[in-house]
Amino acid sequence: MAEIRKVGVVGLGAMGAGIAQLCVEAGLETVGREVTAELGQTARDRIGHFLTRKVEKGQFEQEARDDAVGRLTLTTELDAFADCDLVFEAIVEELEPKQELFGELDRICRPDAVLATNTSALSVTEIAAAASTPGRVVGMHFFNPAPLMPLVEIVRAELTEDEPFERAFAFGERIGKTPIRCHDTPGFVVNRVLIPLLNDCIRVLDEARVTPEDMDAGMKNGAGWPMGPCTLVDLVGIDVHVHASEALYEKTREPRMAPPPRLVAMRNAGLLGRKSGRGFYRYD
Ligand code: 3HC
Repeated sequence: MAEIRKVGVVGLGAMGAGIAQLCVEAGLETVGREVTAELGQTARDRIGHFLTRKVEKGQFEQEARDDAVGRLTLTTELDAFADCDLVFEAIVEELEPKQELFGELDRICRPDAVLATNTSALSVTEIAAAASTPGRVVGMHFFNPAPLMPLVEIVRAELTEDEPFERAFAFGERIGKTPIRCHDTPGFVVNRVLIPLLNDCIRVLDEARVTPEDMDAGMKNGAGWPMGPCTLVDLVGIDVHVHASEALYEKTREPRMAPPPRLVAMRNAGLLGRKSGRGFYRYD
């Protein structure tokens, strides 16, 4: 199996920046692409901040931190991925822009490069259909916050070939994750279970007339969750969660997948959780 030496990440939002952080921490040369140089710099600052916190907490040497940040090259051009061995896509969660991107990556990247999408609720098979070589397209689905959550789902689409699939799995292990293999079904493994469960929690807020604080205390202290569901939806982003729920509902037609009206109203009002400063809770 050819070794992965250089990695690309398209889209440096919360998930893309987290994936890039994992790659540079693992010693890999990493190219990160954003649409503007300013957005790229914001992502680099974010990564630098979290690595500095590790130094302050004695988990990382200052020199290692500086070397890691130095391994990240920023670009606004896709051509910069021509010599990458693995390219992650972490752009907007919509099929058309993802398909367009995979068509371009397919043309730009070396034929043996693996192309991975971090989609959480779209079909990897449909994204891969835009590439003339869909056999090298896989899903590598990370969980938020990517640098902290151990899991990565390695998703086999209809036409994914064995070699790129196993390279993606081995890469997940190399960057310190716990990969699991699955096929391309709506929500894969964890979101298929977690999204309806979170939707149930939000419906119970109204049904049982419970506060977000008490719901969170309930699930933390009664079910052993590390973080309550309202805090978690605020962390993931209410817009992201609503979008994923809609995508899964569209595919499965299971009522529990549909986003609760309360979440849709919050999304429409711009209450997106932590990133907008207000969701179930306020963040100053
Ligand atoms: N990136 C990098 N580093 C980060 C970070 C981020 N986004 N967020 C926090 N950190 C760092 C910070 O430096 C922080 O330390 P600081 O506060 O001292 O600066 C440190 O990580 C916190 O680490 P801890 O180990 O102290 O944190 P906790 O023990 O509180 O654990 C947690 C945090 C791992 C997030 C835990 O609360 C947890 O497991 N929560 C559940 C999260 C979860 O379920 N995620 C899945 C969401 S679903 C999903 O992603 C699917 C998608 O498709 C929608």
